[in-house]
Amino acid sequence: MSDQHQHQEKKTTLPEQEGATPNMQKISSTDATTKRTKRNFAGVSTKGVSTSSDISEESVVLNNGKLMLVLGATSDIARATINEFAKQGWSFHLAARSEDQLQQLADDISVRTGKSVSYSYFDAVEMGIDEMQGFWQHVLEGDPVPDSKPETAPQLELDALFCAVGMLGDQVAAQSDALLTQHMMQANFTGLLPVLAAAADYFEARQAGHIIVISSVAGDRGRGSNYVYGAAKAGLSAYLSGLRVRLNASKVQVLTVLPGFVKTKMVAGLQLPGMLTITPEQAAADIMQAVHKGKDKLYTKWWWFFIMLIIKHIPERIFKRLRNL
Ligand SMILES: NC(=O)c1ccc[n+]([C@@H]2O[C@H](COP(=O)([O-])OP(=O)(O)OC[C@H]3O[C@@H](n4cnc5c(N)ncnc54)[C@H](OP(=O)(O)O)[C@@H]3O)[C@@H](O)[C@H]2O)c1
Repeated sequence: MSDQHQHQEKKTTLPEQEGATPNMQKISSTDATTKRTKRNFAGVSTKGVSTSSDISEESVVLNNGKLMLVLGATSDIARATINEFAKQGWSFHLAARSEDQLQQLADDISVRTGKSVSYSYFDAVEMGIDEMQGFWQHVLEGDPVPDSKPETAPQLELDALFCAVGMLGDQVAAQSDALLTQHMMQANFTGLLPVLAAAADYFEARQAGHIIVISSVAGDRGRGSNYVYGAAKAGLSAYLSGLRVRLNASKVQVLTVLPGFVKTKMVAGLQLPGMLTITPEQAAADIMQAVHKGKDKLYTKWWWFFIMLIIKHIPERIFKRLRNL
């Protein structure tokens, strides 16, 4: 992993302080609270942030160590991965659809790590391209409050983007529901591209960074039982493959994570083969190791590499008869 960008402790002033400018902390003020809508919220948890003699009482640490933007932070795999990276001293900006869950998660990480954790609304389907670009700017400016003054807001330096957004969807329903198909394509692939493209430009300019995205083994070959989801993941994997080529010279790691079965809320209620099903914590440990090793692709667990090798090589005339695969 590149250690090129070690962050300085950045301190910001609470809004109550004299002459304070609007910044991340303002989100907890009444003003900012009234500006929140279900589709436009942001916040920061400073629960675990300690004040000591060398940090004034009016200051909090915004970014100390490496910083990761997590899209789909409420995902079970994302939560486990955040825990892994937190143990290594990383800081986080969380993004997801549910403000309540983000607040809880941010409080939990903040208490355990002693660092402030900021968060923003992110929905791959509901947000337009302009909103996505605005989201990216707010994250970088460390300033999720829409009316803050950019020139006074602290600039955050991202070291990694981790994306765990995904939607399994109902394959049978999607077969005859074009809107559902489009929704699944957006949630798993096209809706992520504005942020992935912005992240690629950002890390390319910095000549460092990690873009870590969860795709799926389902994208390796279209199967009858989940080809809509699989097609979206195939698109995502192909996009990441091309991005990796583009960013290779810039020393930016593009890691495609290809889980098989992971016991998460996404697959709750499905009958999965126990022997092949892992926990989110196992997937997270694999992801951490793959980032450390600078890997390009990660099958988690490793045996999915061999399973998919076989599946990809089954001749089409045989494969098309395997309806239940
Ligand atoms: N579990 C498996 O067996 C398995 C296998 C292969 C690949 N994967 C992939 O692993 C990743 C993480 O999934 P998981 O297993 O941890 O399941 P999960 O807990 O259900 O996580 C899915 C995440 O995607 C978010 N999401 C769904 N639609 C979204 C949208 N339109 N905009 C923004 N966020 C959206 C969910 O947000 P909410 O919390 O708001 O719903 C949640 O944070 C996904 O990309 C999934 O496709 C999982």
